[in-house]
Amino acid sequence: MKKYTGIHDIENIPKIIQEAIAIKENPFQYETIGKHKTLTMLFFNSSLRTRLSTEKAAKNLGMEVMILDINNAWNLEFKDGTIMNLNNTEHIKEAAQVISQYADMIAVRAFPSLHNKKEDESEHIINSFIKYATVPIINMESATAHPLQALTDAMTISELTIKKKPKVVLSWAPHPKALPHAVANSFIKMMQSIAVDFSITHPEGYALNPEITKNTPISHHQEEALKDADIVYVKNWSSYDTYGKVLIEDPNWMITKEKIGNAACMHCLPVRRNVVIEDAVLDSENSIVIRQANNRTFAAQVILKKLLENL
Ligand code: CP
Repeated sequence: MKKYTGIHDIENIPKIIQEAIAIKENPFQYETIGKHKTLTMLFFNSSLRTRLSTEKAAKNLGMEVMILDINNAWNLEFKDGTIMNLNNTEHIKEAAQVISQYADMIAVRAFPSLHNKKEDESEHIINSFIKYATVPIINMESATAHPLQALTDAMTISELTIKKKPKVVLSWAPHPKALPHAVANSFIKMMQSIAVDFSITHPEGYALNPEITKNTPISHHQEEALKDADIVYVKNWSSYDTYGKVLIEDPNWMITKEKIGNAACMHCLPVRRNVVIEDAVLDSENSIVIRQANNRTFAAQVILKKLLENL
């Protein structure tokens, strides 16, 4: 593997899921593979799980880790040919090349603006790192994708071993703030790539990018869609058509104990209790969100291992 910026970088998804599960069983089996190698993690945005699990994953492989909250560094300029006489102090051309001298791989978290669809979809931040850095790039959630989360999710579903082809439903749920589409996008792509009976439910106005949803069944009737589900993956996203807007906060779309029935409930976290999912679900055995978050380490670890093997 030369980079991990989307799930398309995985050669064999079922195989990598099994490798991640094997790493979970013995996390230190490759503890020297990363000796004298450094992972530099750059955060344009906040993180709890991605930051700690990726650092833990790197350390389990014997790597050194350097973390930079990039908002505490110089403001970066990304446009070519700009006259840099305003607030941006350093161009990505220099920054990416300089960081590449300190790092054997660079992981980047950079959310979308949710104001400018074209710019967000161009993935200009992560693509600039790919263009100007001289080491592999890892996506720790970009404008449109969260592939480390998606691999975790597939691993978690695989561990459940409920049946050969479990019914998995991605359900939109309300949220007061405008959230990105990245988690939903990568989850959808992942579900389209593994053996599940997959569908999506969301209110009207919340259709995601049709180039991503493709022919996945979509329902605007949540309770009907959730019927007989084995796994309900809960996530809010802002409107894609009315880009970045919160159109409704209808509490009737919150995930409740009654709606979830016997299904396992997944969420990438952080989750707003009693807005997105009610306490009765999160505090029940149906909730596998803590186990899911634990798997972030092993999904990250298998990706770092693949990149180390190719250095
Ligand atoms: N799920 C996830 O990416 O969590 P963080 O935002 O805390 O990293």
